[in-house]
Amino acid sequence: MKKDNVYIGIDLGTSAVKLLAVAPGGDIVAEADETYSVSYPRSGWSEQNPADWMTAIERGIRSLGADPARVCGISVCGQMHGSVVLDANGEAVRPCILWNDGRTREETDYLNNVIGKEKLRELTGNIAFAGFTAPKLMWLRRNEPENFARIRKIMLPKDYVIYRLTGEVTSDMSDASGTLLFDVRRGEWSRGMCDICSVDPELLPAVKKSFEVSGYLSAEAAKILGLRAGIPVCAGAGDNAAAAVGTGAVGAGSCNISLGTSGTVFICKEGYIEGGDALHSFRHADGGYHLMGCMLSAASCNKWWTEDILHGDYAEEQSSMPEPGKAGIIFLPYMMGERSPHNDVDARSMFVGMRPDTTRGAMGLAVLEGVALGMRSQLERAGGAAEITRTRICGGGAKSALWRRIVASVIGVPVETVATEKGPAYGAALLAMTGCGEYASVKEACEACVRVSGVTEPDADLTAAYDRLYVIYDSIYPAMKKIFADMRGV
Ligand code: XUL
Repeated sequence: MKKDNVYIGIDLGTSAVKLLAVAPGGDIVAEADETYSVSYPRSGWSEQNPADWMTAIERGIRSLGADPARVCGISVCGQMHGSVVLDANGEAVRPCILWNDGRTREETDYLNNVIGKEKLRELTGNIAFAGFTAPKLMWLRRNEPENFARIRKIMLPKDYVIYRLTGEVTSDMSDASGTLLFDVRRGEWSRGMCDICSVDPELLPAVKKSFEVSGYLSAEAAKILGLRAGIPVCAGAGDNAAAAVGTGAVGAGSCNISLGTSGTVFICKEGYIEGGDALHSFRHADGGYHLMGCMLSAASCNKWWTEDILHGDYAEEQSSMPEPGKAGIIFLPYMMGERSPHNDVDARSMFVGMRPDTTRGAMGLAVLEGVALGMRSQLERAGGAAEITRTRICGGGAKSALWRRIVASVIGVPVETVATEKGPAYGAALLAMTGCGEYASVKEACEACVRVSGVTEPDADLTAAYDRLYVIYDSIYPAMKKIFADMRGV
């Protein structure tokens, strides 16, 4: 271990790419963010152009300003489930269909109801959710046959970045798990599932462990990024697995909550455990497994409310909020439909219980609480499998002390922050360190680098109030389900 070595972790998020340069031992040497936009070509659809990711990464690496002589390795994590499809020249055939896109209702229904959930679980370990990659490929085959015929490589968003950095086509087990083409138990692509979805397995990437080296920075990429050619680029992970590494949630029983565009609860497991109809059962980047619930809209609900609707800013809005538990209304956070626990692309957001004395502040508070109640609904669905005694937290939303207090009280366990809320990028840097030999294992890297910076304890009175609110919250979706379906197309 050389003291001045530096490793770059890249997190290809939905609203921005976040980059950290981290030294062995865990100190953050530099950080940079570069934003891009999501296009919503139709209601419930979401897409991004892979070329925009690369432009943002080039800018991000340059503004990190890390001394190229010190940068010894890179790893990449990112938004899961996206369908990047390349033609024979390595160019994107069409924009990537993102993880929160809901266009595949028919394909998902076919997989779950005609092929059947039992068969899907037997082949892959999971059932179909609309955002997963396999139903998107089926949608492409049916709706864009010319594009489908041109596909020569299928990859996940962060794998596209690695491809552009190294020329190698690889994925890792945590991200491959979210395609529904991967057998999570066996740790390999499922031929049976590829047949069902008419996907040629030859088009899929080679799957590595998250810390393994995928390839080496090409001369061309090195020139564009201002880095040294030949440095190792490690396989990385889906953003949630990387976030768990970045917050030190490795090893059975540990848990991480990510409060980003999506909201996830990530519960580490030693072996495979079935996720039922609400949760995902995937590989972890530490070599183990995890159960995960994913809300499609979390911090994005708060962004929508404060920025798009109120044209305000969060700090200002927060000052006019009533005390937690006193909003008097409930917000359902299903802005893009909902994945966990409802698996329903038609679900929508709503404020329930408005009165003439409901204030703007109360509505803002209800948004924060609604997201936290959504997190709890994932933990409740995991039942005994989610007997956690504390959790780490990361993501943009974790910067808010108020939101952390609400989350801790809604789920009833202490919530711990670490030195950076950029858990995924930090985790990616630790994977690069492990892959380059600074540490013998991902766990060892976490032990050496991740430090808890604060703990938010649940407040017993507030937990009791939220227990009551949760029962009402949980009963709203079943009552609205048919109405949401009737609103399709409205
Ligand atoms: C996880 C999921 C999201 C994306 C967001 O299943 O879909 O958390 O990875 O980046």
